[in-house]
Formats: sequence, structure tokens, C-alpha cells
Amino acid sequence: MILEIAGLTKRFGGITAVDDMHLSVAPGEVHAVVGPNGSGKTTLFNLISGAVPATSGQISFEGRRIEALPPHKRAQLGITRTFQNIKLFADLNVLENVLVGQHAISNTGIGSLVRWWGAKERAQREQAMDLLRAFGLHDIASRQAGELAYGPKRLVEIARAVASSPRLLLLDEPTSGMNARESEEMVVAIRKAADRRMTVLIIEHHLPVVKDLAERVTVLNFGKKISEGTPAAVFEDPAVVEAYLGGTTDE
Ligand SMILES: Nc1ncnc2c1ncn2[C@@H]1O[C@H](COP(=O)(O)OP(=O)(O)O)[C@@H](O)[C@H]1O
Ligand SMILES: [Mg+2]
Repeated sequence: MILEIAGLTKRFGGITAVDDMHLSVAPGEVHAVVGPNGSGKTTLFNLISGAVPATSGQISFEGRRIEALPPHKRAQLGITRTFQNIKLFADLNVLENVLVGQHAISNTGIGSLVRWWGAKERAQREQAMDLLRAFGLHDIASRQAGELAYGPKRLVEIARAVASSPRLLLLDEPTSGMNARESEEMVVAIRKAADRRMTVLIIEHHLPVVKDLAERVTVLNFGKKISEGTPAAVFEDPAVVEAYLGGTTDE
């Protein structure tokens, strides 16, 4: 297993956002996390990336305990995440955003970085263009990221994350706010990312996307795992049907 979570709990004051979670993810798997709003999905990702500390429990990544490591150490180990809200370099163009991702820079000045590759690294540029082609973004490689429409912006964000060649990619609602065609493009792009042998954990509200993409699904409700298995099995599980008919989802 690339990721093993045992007894993981996160409390915010009186709220138990993640409650005694157990989860195992195999290398190369696309694993979806679904559940009603407020069920603890984003908090689970925050615990894995280190954005919030766990109240208790264990997280092992490639056999190594990481729950006490700061976020940048986990990033160095190959854990990359995207956010519910887009975070792009608005003044850089699409290609440059992906190149920044390749270098997975943190504190380096962006300007000097861009000059550096400009002088030096044609191969990296070619790799980045290949990635843009895979994501259907090559036609807008020179457009400024800040000027793009919402759907392409999200695709650039995912492309940038994939460019850093993470071992584990955490995608928080990548298709939120997208129309059907954009969602389909996103599915194709994520599948290509998974083909690069990265492990993908994806929070996703749209069940057709989950069925298309995920080999396994974990369903949360009130911070607890209520079901896990293949998409077909999970969405027929009476406990899942009941949680969804509870009426708190976006579906
Ligand atoms: N930083 C925080 N401080 C306090 N409460 C939080 C914080 N983050 C999340 N929560 C609470 O934890 C619960 C789970 O939230 P979240 O993980 O965002 O759910 P989901 O992503 O499934 O919609 C919610 O009740 C939410 O209000
Ligand atoms: Mg969320």
C-alpha cells in the first residue's frame, strides 16, 4: 500500500470532522472519496497533506510514518494536492504555470526561475508541452493564466500538479463548477495522469465521474467511513443510498 491510514481522528472544538478513519490505497490506484457536504472529505485531505494536524491516529506513506511531518516535508516525499479554489500564477502564461509545477519550487523567485529555464532547459519545455497536449491545453499555452475561463483554469491547475510528478496526487473536487463537456475533459486528463503511474485520491461529487475514473471508492458520512469498494458495489450499498437520500448532497 502506498497510503495507509489508521485510527485517524480530527476534532475542531466540539466537531469531529474525521472520526477514527481507516483507509488503504494501493500504488497506481485512482481512489475516490465521496460523501455529503461536511462529511470530512477536505479535512481528510488536509490531514494527509499536513495542512492541519491530526488529533490522533497514524498516516503511513510508502511505509513511512508522516503524521508528524510538516506539509513541505510531505510534499518533498511526493504528496501533491489541489484546492477547491484555484491557485494559479495569474501573471504567468499556461506553459509557465506548468513549468513552475515541474520544478515544484517553494521559495525560489518565480522570475529568476522562468529566466533560468528560458536560458537552459528546452527538454523541460518539451515535456511541459507534451503534458499540455495531453490535457488539451496546447492551443492556449501562451495565454495568461489569469485571463482564462474557469474550466481551462482548473485544467491548468491539475496539469501543473501532474507536472511535479507526484507519487500521490490529491484532487479536491476538480470538476466543481464545470459544465458536462469540461468535466469529460477533466476525466480524460486525470486518467492520463493516472497512466503516468501516479496514485490519485479524488474528492468528487459527480457520481458519473466517480464511476468513470475510480477503481475504488470510500464513502464518508459525519466523518466516518460508511462504505468502501468498487463504484458499482458502493453505490448499491443501502448505507450509502440512505446517506445520499438524506438530502445534503449536491446531487
Ligand atoms: N478549520 C476548521 N475549523 C473548524 N471546523 C472545521 C474546519 N475545517 C472543517 N471544519 C468542519 O469539519 C467538518 C467537515 O468539513 P469538511 O472536511 O470541509 O467537509 P467536506 O469537505 O466533506 O464538505 C464540517 O463540520 C466543517 O465545518
Ligand atoms: Mg470539501
